[in-house]
Amino acid sequence: MGFPMEPFRIKAVEPIRATTREERERALSEAGLNVFLVPSELILIDMLTDSGTSAMSDNQWAGLMRGDEAYARCRNWEHFEGAVREVFGYRHVIPCHQGRAAENYLFENLLTRERNLVIGNTHFDTTRAQVQHHGGRPIDLVIPEGNDPAAEHPFKGNVDVRRAEEQIEEAGAERIAFGFLTITNNSGGGQPVSLANARAFSKLLRRHGIPMLFDAARYAENSYFVKIRESGYADKSVREIAAEMFALGDGAWMSAKKDALVNIGGFIALDDEELARRVTDTVILNEGFPTYGGLAGRDLEAVARGLLEGLDEDYLAYRVGQVAEIGRQLAEAGVPHIRPTGGHAVYLDAKAILPHIPQERFPAVAMTAALYRDYGIRSVEIGALMSAEPDPETGEVRYPEMELVRLCVPRRVYTASHLQYVVDAIVELCGRAGSIRGLELTYAAPTLRHFTARFKEVDG
Ligand code: F0G
Repeated sequence: MGFPMEPFRIKAVEPIRATTREERERALSEAGLNVFLVPSELILIDMLTDSGTSAMSDNQWAGLMRGDEAYARCRNWEHFEGAVREVFGYRHVIPCHQGRAAENYLFENLLTRERNLVIGNTHFDTTRAQVQHHGGRPIDLVIPEGNDPAAEHPFKGNVDVRRAEEQIEEAGAERIAFGFLTITNNSGGGQPVSLANARAFSKLLRRHGIPMLFDAARYAENSYFVKIRESGYADKSVREIAAEMFALGDGAWMSAKKDALVNIGGFIALDDEELARRVTDTVILNEGFPTYGGLAGRDLEAVARGLLEGLDEDYLAYRVGQVAEIGRQLAEAGVPHIRPTGGHAVYLDAKAILPHIPQERFPAVAMTAALYRDYGIRSVEIGALMSAEPDPETGEVRYPEMELVRLCVPRRVYTASHLQYVVDAIVELCGRAGSIRGLELTYAAPTLRHFTARFKEVDG
């Protein structure tokens, strides 16, 4: 494995246990072939998500002991607010327990019956569901390369500014609640957005008086990509790049469970005082007093420290390097995946790997089940199960363009030999992909169905 050495040493370990094939077959069958429903103790390498799965540093653990659990204005709140202000540059900071809560409180105050369209590169699944929950219509406008796994482009997370302009002209600016950029673009492959693209989008939105926001879960990884891929930024620090990005918008929300290296936490950061006041009222109703927002004082401290650690450039080089190295080895073995690799995960192209399974038979879910059954590895589907939906007008099911298996790399958790095992497993499985069978749903919830869906294997 060739990537920069881990810029840390390991002080506490958590044992993992290999299971037998029989144990995994039983677990999978009890889970209705949905790896979300398999107990974590029966997983060898868990790449389901990079969310809330980071290893905290000794500095963060020490911070937990400095938790001030006063109900109002605990000292950790001051540290939290200070860190968010320092990195994001927005005046008002509103904590909440995780990203989708931030989306909920923010969208409740931004969407109205008349102003209900939301435009951006790609809505993450919770973002899409929250927009719809508040009566809005999410519109994804990522550049065409962002929907083509094989297209080589350094910033496949970019929004298509020309299509955004057409959308605004067609619908009327007064119908658009806000525009946003997911950095990095998770559903599109953890792909970054360039500063040039963010600048052009910001200019367009400002011209039309539309607020611009960031879904900033992986903003540090995005900033690192700008540094290494966008011309003119090699000598800027990641922190300066992040500041330049956020200055283009009016606010952001963040699931701190990603680039802030914590197991729980989130926030909304805004410049607009009136909007911040309304969002704060919603948070008081749902999460608690606005200096803790559903978090313990100790959790606030872990975020305050993690946010700054997540900007360390040696750490980012190692982290992005880990993902790139998995991609390099997969490419060498001819395994189709989203190229180039993004920041937090590799995304296998299930349409290309399993051409014998049509999209309505959930090829990517079938592959997640096989990866678990044969190797004890947990991954996640990003495809028909997660985002196929009926057309609002015709009722006909619309399938997403890409059918992906995402293998996330939790931050600071797995070593090079863990990742080598994963690469070898994927390559071996792809060598006999023809034996993987398609699936049929036996249960599906009305929203966010991927978490609880159940399946059976079918032929053809
Ligand atoms: N926005 C993005 C871009 C995300 O990736 C996530 C979560 C959220 C918002 C919601 O945040 O989980 O704290 O409520 N992504 C996780 C994942 C779940 O696995 O990609 P949350």
